[in-house]
Amino acid sequence: MISGKTVVAGIVGRPVAHSLSPVLHNAWLAASGIDGVYVPFAPDALGLERLANGFRGGAIRGVNVTIPFKEAALKVADRASPLAQAAGAANLLIFDRDGKIFADNTDGAGLLGAFAAQAPGWDVRNGPVTVLGAGGAARGAVAALLAAGAPKVWVLNRTLSKADAIAKALGAKVFPLPYAHAPSALQQTTAVINATSAGLSGEGALTVPLELTHPSTVVMDMVYKPLETPFLAQARALGRPTVDGLEMLIRQAVPTFEALFGATPPAGVDVRALALEVLNA
Ligand code: ATR
Repeated sequence: MISGKTVVAGIVGRPVAHSLSPVLHNAWLAASGIDGVYVPFAPDALGLERLANGFRGGAIRGVNVTIPFKEAALKVADRASPLAQAAGAANLLIFDRDGKIFADNTDGAGLLGAFAAQAPGWDVRNGPVTVLGAGGAARGAVAALLAAGAPKVWVLNRTLSKADAIAKALGAKVFPLPYAHAPSALQQTTAVINATSAGLSGEGALTVPLELTHPSTVVMDMVYKPLETPFLAQARALGRPTVDGLEMLIRQAVPTFEALFGATPPAGVDVRALALEVLNA
């Protein structure tokens, strides 16, 4: 029940109607008995800044931020975690009582948490990792992999200048590569992560020679709609271990819930099943 004391949080995106985050957070809130609510906000294209400034002082506790506002979210904040700074983007804004906005990025924790859940034998420190794409999602992934101890990260992108920019921002362990050089990276990599928007419902699939990878190479796709992207289907057909984008979404929601509501999400809520129900509806 909503009361006069309800803690309000939410997600800002455009579009936001298909976000699964309200499903996850409200299920956890209901199960934990916390007097809180998590609602969607869809401001106009330039509206993130106005919205965030309006909530200064803590009129609401905080918001997740998704496409296309993650870079703008970092800019509007007064303080940012090292990971949000390295990612160049924030997926979480907290409105502190003193009027300041704190930006964080839990996508990296989501990425590594998804690997831990679905490919538990894999260790980021054991060898080079390959990231496909060089947009905001890719930069966040590279920052998280480096922070977790990856010795080397290859960034493959159609537009090489964007991969160059990530290498420049994140340092000497990052190597930009055109897709033509994919074979040499794939033969040595311990994991391949799709951080492009290819494979999203309606978008063209990626063609990457995954057959060149070692049988133990883990293949991950950040896209979760469809849950089994053509890229993951290709990896499964080759017998490679896979990690899906829905698990990443769920794992990033855990530290997010803790930051927004001050409690660990309750055990015993099958949020993956709930999310799948919504995805398949
Ligand atoms: P996001 O914030 O989700 O990362 P983005 O910044 O628009 O989104 O980046 C999209 C990424 O997907 C880019 O790396 C893009 O490649 P380019 O930089 O060359 O445009 C990549 N991408 C999108 N569609 C693709 C496709 N069909 N094949 C390969 N890469 C694709």
